[in-house]
Amino acid sequence: MTQEDYKALALEARKNSYSPYSHFRVGACLVAEDGQYFTGANFENASFGATICAERCAVSNAIAHGVKRFCEIYISCDSGWAWPCGICRQVLNEFKACDMLVHVGSPDAEWKTLPLSALLPESFGPESLDKA
Ligand code: THU
Repeated sequence: MTQEDYKALALEARKNSYSPYSHFRVGACLVAEDGQYFTGANFENASFGATICAERCAVSNAIAHGVKRFCEIYISCDSGWAWPCGICRQVLNEFKACDMLVHVGSPDAEWKTLPLSALLPESFGPESLDKA
């Protein structure tokens, strides 16, 4: 699998978004340290607070398959860039196998990449509780 393959998977996953309220479709492809990948899409709810982002959908998908250590995530939207929200940054931080690379892009925007440490500096994580 190449980076281009993972980008294509994230873009494809976006098409499964359930976003009747925001009409903002997001897809994700989460890559584990052994190269396995897990996709996700955002799904909204009439009770807005119950919405789940694409990133956390992908994490749930991976956990359900017994995989918990990730190196990269590719996040797609319809236009521009969708950097992960604060809750997703924290959730990704829990399961990082290294300084996870976060890639964002869309059909009309060049992909950009930042390490999770830049998006969530001085984070509180498993190591803070000595559970790493
Ligand atoms: N959304 C994501 O899926 N990921 C993010 O990191 C930011 C926001 C979704 C949630 C909601 O369905 C829609 O985008 C608008 O906020």
